[in-house]
Amino acid sequence: MAPNSERRRGIGPTEDDALGDLEGGMVYYRQKYLAEYTGVADPHAHLFVTKSIRRRAGITFAADRRIVPLSMARYERVSRRMTVLADRIDQFLILGVGYDTRPLWLPALLTGSVRVIEVDSPDKIEWKIKLLRENGISYPEYADTIGADLGSRDLPDLIVTKGFDPSRPTAVFMEGVVFQLPTKVARRLLSPSHLGLAPGSEVTFDFWNNARIDRRNEELRLGIGRPMFSRFPLPASRRPDEATDALRRMGYGNACTTPLAELVRDLWPNRALVGSTPEWLFVTATVGG
Ligand SMILES: C[S@@+](CC[C@H](N)C(=O)[O-])C[C@H]1O[C@@H](n2cnc3c(N)ncnc32)[C@H](O)[C@@H]1O
Repeated sequence: MAPNSERRRGIGPTEDDALGDLEGGMVYYRQKYLAEYTGVADPHAHLFVTKSIRRRAGITFAADRRIVPLSMARYERVSRRMTVLADRIDQFLILGVGYDTRPLWLPALLTGSVRVIEVDSPDKIEWKIKLLRENGISYPEYADTIGADLGSRDLPDLIVTKGFDPSRPTAVFMEGVVFQLPTKVARRLLSPSHLGLAPGSEVTFDFWNNARIDRRNEELRLGIGRPMFSRFPLPASRRPDEATDALRRMGYGNACTTPLAELVRDLWPNRALVGSTPEWLFVTATVGG
């Protein structure tokens, strides 16, 4: 079964399209720009790029061209972090995995020594597996998927049934996901106790601060008549450190919050962004310690 947005292809802009520009655009940008920015291509991105995904990516790009360097920097940093963490953590949880297929090709994961569990909505996971299978790609034994709502109270139990061991450290990744979640779901997922994360677990995510969420909601109000994004549960309006402090209070020992625009500047100094404010932030945090 195709995701809603695909089923509706051909019909005019819908609310799904408005959210779809977040989920569909990324895979298109990876297909088009990842190799140019990082020197590494996503070998499977092209499988997922449809006409409607290209259209949504185009709408997002037209609204703010910085989406490309910002999302490339995020992807590069998450890949790097996966590579580094694979040396010392043997279970990865990728929440809101979408059309990310790094577990199938990132060299550090191909060794098979890391158990990888991917989670996304049931129709997204079904569609992804179908497209991969039709192209002769199957999931390796070390990786598995869960089709579930990230807001589900059963998620902690579901991941255990897939081989997740709560007594050992886990690396959790939420790339481009938190701003799509209701505030209370985001807060719950960020709390180390909800997923039962052992000390030494590493959590990596990005988020929009509430100034950006309010602005996007205002644009949506004008475009489709209603807002779609919930406010971020941690403070981060004045300076990134506010979020770091809040994470420490939630049980993280080390936490580091960096504006994505700074990562772009560090990675590609000649692609410095015009007019970037610290509205989109990248976080790495260690449980306990
Ligand atoms: C912007 S996409 C990012 C996908 C992927 N992490 C990447 O960087 O390409 C956000 C993903 O989160 C998923 N998502 C959003 N809300 C969700 C929920 N409540 N339950 C499960 N998945 C959700 C969407 O289906 C989508 O695949």
